[in-house]
Amino acid sequence: MTDDSDMPMKVIIDTDPGQDDAVALLLALASEKLEILGITAVAGNVPLELTEKNVRIICELAGKLDVRVFAGAKSPMKKTLVTAENVHGKTGLDGPDLPEPVMSLQPQHAVDFIVETVLNEPAGDVTLCTLGPLTNIGLALQQAPQIADRIQQIVMMGGGFFEGGNITPAAEFNIFVDPDAASDVFQSGIPIVMMPLDVTHKLLTTKKRLKRIKKLKTPVAKAVVEMLEFFERYDEGKYGTDGGPLHDPTVIAWLLQPELFSGRYCNVEIEKDSSLTCGMTVVDWWQVTDRSHNALVIRDVNGDGFFDLLQEHLARL
Ligand code: BDR
Ligand code: CA
Repeated sequence: MTDDSDMPMKVIIDTDPGQDDAVALLLALASEKLEILGITAVAGNVPLELTEKNVRIICELAGKLDVRVFAGAKSPMKKTLVTAENVHGKTGLDGPDLPEPVMSLQPQHAVDFIVETVLNEPAGDVTLCTLGPLTNIGLALQQAPQIADRIQQIVMMGGGFFEGGNITPAAEFNIFVDPDAASDVFQSGIPIVMMPLDVTHKLLTTKKRLKRIKKLKTPVAKAVVEMLEFFERYDEGKYGTDGGPLHDPTVIAWLLQPELFSGRYCNVEIEKDSSLTCGMTVVDWWQVTDRSHNALVIRDVNGDGFFDLLQEHLARL
């Protein structure tokens, strides 16, 4: 008899690569604990035509050509798209020289794929991992609100509270790009695990850590180091640190080794209207309201444990 806990977790990864998204994808693709039902691309760090292509580039780098890749929303639910080429470069994956993908894109729209999959899989089986703006998830909830009760959880990189924002003083990029979708997600009743800047800023890609990855001497390790060296230059300049924060892999690391992290259940609301604080995640960390808890907000991480997990998984590819 098979124990359910031995079964891989069924996940859909929604992403906007982005070098840190790419590392998150590699971590997921290397794990036998996850069954990746599909990877859905959304516009964010760069436009959709690049994010969907970047997902395929990374699957091929990992040697996982059988993973299904879907393209989703080209722009946020209401706002005009804001991209981040200043951080990620023109392609979103600037740094290494990676070949054009040969894998084809699935014909189905990502939002339809998410809805269909959640409805067809047993209730409570599917976890959504979101590494970019929440547009595809917001649209899926709009199209089929009944999926909310069937999703096991959403583990997301997004928001910031104690650290403030990274695109405005108040807002983190993923939430800022589509605050309407984020608000719908936080109101949906789906259990949420939130990885804000408060935790990702504790995971720096220091020279020592990159040197260790480089020692793996594989094409994947080489590409990861080149991506992260490109990606960190922006944040090193901004924060004056040795290395930059590694955001999106926290989502996958949580699924693989949750004991690396700690946080607390809170109410989180999204500011949508104020021009000054649009996209802010208002976290009731100190429980000063009676608003109901809708997210597990992570604040701390065992950094060395996290990079050991990453190293061990990259070595498998
Ligand atoms: C988030 O924004 C993007 O630039 C990164 O890929 C990450 O998902 C960090 O604010
Ligand atoms: Ca991202």
